[in-house]
Amino acid sequence: MGISAFYHDSAACVLRDGEIVAAAQEERFTRTKGDASFPKHAVQYCLNAAGITPAHLAYVGFYDKPLLKFERILETYLGVAPRAFPQFRLAGPVWMKEKLFLEGELRRALGYDGAMLYAEHHESHAASAFFPSPFPEAAILTVDGVGEWATAAFGVGRSNDLELLKELHWPDSLGLLYSAFTYYTGFKVNSGEYKVMGLAPYGDPKFVDVIYRELVDIREDGSFTLNQEYFDYLTGLTMTNGAFARLFGGPPRVPESQLTQREMDLAKSIQVVCEDIMLRMARTVHRETGMENLCLAGGVALNCVANGRILREGPFKRIWIQPAAGDAGGALGVAQLIWHRYCKQPRTVRPGQDGMHGAYLGPEFSPQEIAAYLGSQGAAYERVERDCLLRRVAELLAQEKVVGWFDGRMEFGPRALGARSILGDPRSPRMQAQMNLKIKFREGFRPFAPSVLRERAGDYFELDCDSPYMLLVAPVKQERQIPMTEAQRRLWGIDQLNVVRSDIPAVTHIDYSARIQTVTRDTNPNYYDLIREFERLTGCPVLVNTSFNVRGEPIVCTPADAYRCFMRTHIDYLVLGPFLLDKTQQPEWQESGDWRREFQLD
Ligand SMILES: [Fe+2]
Repeated sequence: MGISAFYHDSAACVLRDGEIVAAAQEERFTRTKGDASFPKHAVQYCLNAAGITPAHLAYVGFYDKPLLKFERILETYLGVAPRAFPQFRLAGPVWMKEKLFLEGELRRALGYDGAMLYAEHHESHAASAFFPSPFPEAAILTVDGVGEWATAAFGVGRSNDLELLKELHWPDSLGLLYSAFTYYTGFKVNSGEYKVMGLAPYGDPKFVDVIYRELVDIREDGSFTLNQEYFDYLTGLTMTNGAFARLFGGPPRVPESQLTQREMDLAKSIQVVCEDIMLRMARTVHRETGMENLCLAGGVALNCVANGRILREGPFKRIWIQPAAGDAGGALGVAQLIWHRYCKQPRTVRPGQDGMHGAYLGPEFSPQEIAAYLGSQGAAYERVERDCLLRRVAELLAQEKVVGWFDGRMEFGPRALGARSILGDPRSPRMQAQMNLKIKFREGFRPFAPSVLRERAGDYFELDCDSPYMLLVAPVKQERQIPMTEAQRRLWGIDQLNVVRSDIPAVTHIDYSARIQTVTRDTNPNYYDLIREFERLTGCPVLVNTSFNVRGEPIVCTPADAYRCFMRTHIDYLVLGPFLLDKTQQPEWQESGDWRREFQLD
């Protein structure tokens, strides 16, 4: 069993004979986004899924080395004291209580007294990137905020082992640099980075020169030094300081306040810098390893725009990205590291197929369990035979209905991939605004992602490879793009989003890009056949796929989570396994507590 905990996004993963049996993030069970506490629910779920108790575990692995991390925090504090006092005061007691005396706590929480092993943070990321990949050998690049000391690392994976060759060290961190801009543009660090990436296409890269002149001393090989005079994450409680604000002409945006062109330009600028650094790193990794394949992990590997550029412009023939690229994936990584490196067990590579089972590694619910819950709520539902259900859902989608789609095992990692998704018609010019504002209760500027049948991807997008985890961004095919008129070009910011820019406008971002999920029948037959049915009906093999949750909430896990989200939003229909629910037929929803405040909705 691998465990990742106490930093952000705790998770557990269990392997049997090297095969991933189950993996899940704690947030899905506790309903606290990015829950960093000991993942006791995820652990219990993994044990149940494997049909075992803690006594059956051969090893438990932890995804980083707490003492090394503590050493960094201590040295950082001592190195820059007395300015460091505020943060040390905040982080210190937590470390003392939970993090330093981790092993005893882990053992107690698990009820486990067997062998316990620790991997380094970037080793865990690297293992999660390489071992489940479809490559017998590959270069590995991991980039994140920080682990113990490393903020980026690269190496080589061959057969059943891997070796990290070089590391970039704290406080020079691409993840933290990006997070500094996330904070400064008024979004939440660790989860708002996605919003910055989505905002970038509205802006001009006006600040790139300033970033390179003042903040980032970049070298040809992609390594860099950050000018700490502008950051506050070493010493304070915020990411950026007064000097940073003076450099960019004002204080950070107040969260939730109106977005202006300035935030859009800042987002574009940091995105350009991030892509530039990632590309340089990729070229260095290629030069130093001579490999054709690249595996990526670490939080920055969730930057699918940068990934798309590495694929198109970088030196590697193929790339594979761990879907749980953030710290949750470390649980999977350390477990595989123990199996392959420590136990010296061989690795089976299936050509063209990875070992993630489509990332469908979480809980699933039987029709009996779902029916029992629906019965307890007095919900109106109908059981529909599979082919008929797929046909009816496809028809509803073609009528611009929005459908909550809950089917099979929950996804591991931050993206919904057709097990806990909200679906819509990508051809509809109204769908994007409707889904953002009435269903997700989120910022209107954010684009939605398409799920496309793998074999039709090349007809719609400039992408000719697998992208099963929605981690590659590529342009919509030129012939599908509708050029903007002069008048449309003059529209400001979000108004541009409502301009129809292709024949699949709901998934076409304002720069004509799309964040693509390719769907194959072998990993998710129901979802694949649903899209096929939609294609048969409309000619279009694409659906809008957004995660099944509202803003501020983790993706739904259980039928109860899904029904609650369905009833709180303007989702028209809900599919729960074999059951179909029509919103207009449901009894009135009784809300307990002020959930809008709970999730800090507008
Ligand atoms: Fe990490």
